[in-house]
Amino acid sequence: MSSVIGIDSRVRIRTNAKLNLFLRVVGTRPDGYHELETIFHGVGLADDIELLPTSTGGIELDMTLDPDLVGDLPTAEENLVSRSIEGLVRSGAINPGIKIHITKRIPIAAGLGGGSGNAAGALVGLSQLWNMDIDPLALHGIAMSIGSDVPYCLGGGTALAMRRGEELTPLPAPATIWFVLGISFRPLLTRDVYAAWDGMDPVDDAGSAPMTFALGAGDIQEIADLLHNDLERAAFSLWPELAGKKQAMLDAGALGAAVTGSGPTVFSIARDEAHARAIAGQVKERFDRVIVVSSHPRCVERID
Ligand code: C5P
Repeated sequence: MSSVIGIDSRVRIRTNAKLNLFLRVVGTRPDGYHELETIFHGVGLADDIELLPTSTGGIELDMTLDPDLVGDLPTAEENLVSRSIEGLVRSGAINPGIKIHITKRIPIAAGLGGGSGNAAGALVGLSQLWNMDIDPLALHGIAMSIGSDVPYCLGGGTALAMRRGEELTPLPAPATIWFVLGISFRPLLTRDVYAAWDGMDPVDDAGSAPMTFALGAGDIQEIADLLHNDLERAAFSLWPELAGKKQAMLDAGALGAAVTGSGPTVFSIARDEAHARAIAGQVKERFDRVIVVSSHPRCVERID
């Protein structure tokens, strides 16, 4: 990919979405964050990031939304990609100038990790574009400074994450699980959902070991039965209608359903693609958008 002068002329990166098959809030931390035990699983719904070198010394960032998506694009300051560039510069990179275009297909602020994936994609893409010989641990540290889900997104696939999300263990899992995503274009801010969780009575939830076993055994029904998200209760308390949307997935014959991350996306598990499409057809009136996806082994992929 490198040109004769050793600088790539353009890098294109694809970043895939994630689901939380299991999420337990273990406790609160002195810094206000929460200790988690969560199992991420990558799915094939992706944004594309194009990185073009310029000589302006600055950052130009623009985005286009998939025509089916509504909502506001994150502003430059809120966009995690800008923070990736700042993180790389802090660790010694020199930005000769960069133009970034993001094509968004992953709904924004939906619990699908779209922004975190973009940040991880920018870290990987820019370190390649700028020929940085960056130590993986240092990259992981920069990722963590950007957001709790960004270290996972550097790898993707299926992984158990502990602490704030930075202690990652890859897990064996079926290569293909079919999911139906029920998207709602109603913002549910992550910090508000955690704050609602703080105000609720603690529950003594079981840990992630049974889900880890079910994933290793490839038992789709068992995986579906064990879907769990502690933040679901908090999300339902902020938006009670969401509980009915999850129920609609189950009423449509899904093997199991849950909220992903802090919501508001609800996802369900199907036996196979045909079953997923049948569920999607039945629940489409209950969501702003319904998408059928299957598992994907990586978050960040270089496409050219
Ligand atoms: O790390 P990130 O920027 O994604 O977190 C967004 C918000 O979610 C934080 O400001 C915090 O309120 C909450 N959060 C948390 N504990 C985590 C992850 C996120 O309290 N492990």
